[in-house]
Amino acid sequence: MATISASAPGKAILFGEHAVVYHRPAIAVPVNQVQVKTTITSLPKGQPDEIWLEAPEVGLKSRLANLPDTYPLALLIALFKQTYHPAALPAMRIGIHSSIPVAAGLGSGAAVSVSLIRALSSFLALSLDDSQVCSLAYEIEKRHHGTPSGIDNTVITYARAIFFQRDAPVEFITPGAPLHLVIGDTGIKSPTAAAVGGVRTRWQVSPAEYESYFDHMAEIAISARKVMEAGKIRLLGSLMNKNHELLQSIGVSCPELDHLCAEALLAGAWGAKLSGGGQGGNMIALVNPHQAKSVTDALLTAGAVRTFSTYITP
Ligand code: PMV
Repeated sequence: MATISASAPGKAILFGEHAVVYHRPAIAVPVNQVQVKTTITSLPKGQPDEIWLEAPEVGLKSRLANLPDTYPLALLIALFKQTYHPAALPAMRIGIHSSIPVAAGLGSGAAVSVSLIRALSSFLALSLDDSQVCSLAYEIEKRHHGTPSGIDNTVITYARAIFFQRDAPVEFITPGAPLHLVIGDTGIKSPTAAAVGGVRTRWQVSPAEYESYFDHMAEIAISARKVMEAGKIRLLGSLMNKNHELLQSIGVSCPELDHLCAEALLAGAWGAKLSGGGQGGNMIALVNPHQAKSVTDALLTAGAVRTFSTYITP
């Protein structure tokens, strides 16, 4: 019985979330400490197109044919078939296991898409390249989020630090020094689409004000790239703090995120900000490795339901 598997990491946005939806540049990094792993096993006695799905973290155990067409995994498999394999699929069992918290700004949806597309590609010997994987994952993001920028599927597909702007080729960043991030989860589930929709409503009411916030975030992202490449980590931290203030101004922070960021800074972090859609989900703190423990302890004391460390190495 042939079995193959494929994985995809989580992600964190270091600079420029939300502004990136409005064509400003942003910086994102993979978070390898959390992963989605998809395993596909062939069912030699099964019928063509007989597909069984199991995803224990979301309580799913079902035959694909019994799921509604709009169910995210059903949609993904339908789009995959339509694009790359119009003929019937061989019978298979697909298992999806994820350690990425859902609706927390860590890219769980895009990671499921990327790992499943890669697993199907390899199971069917299609050898899709990264750009094909990325663009199909983007199609799925569009079905779920309305106006995604594409940053999540891109950083997760390439699993490298990226400087990303909509409709421009992705650029990779090689940091001049290692970055150590401590990630703190507020435990508040916050769907990205709601946060993005709220910003859009406020932007429509006050376009000039919001355009100026987005411009300022773009300047920060451009500076941050240079500072990151030069390995000036302390300065990178102060740019994160400025970015967080702007995210507060556009209404995507919340008292819990502000509190975790403030406590991380008091415990010695070089910078702290919300990461992703906001209004809950995760914050990130840039730390001196020697202070990772005190920042982690401070976040847990301040109410974080979960913390973990991640490293971006040159
Ligand atoms: O999926 P999240 O919550 O990490 O948010 C992605 C970043 C946003 O800029 C808020 C949305 C987008 O499509 O870029």
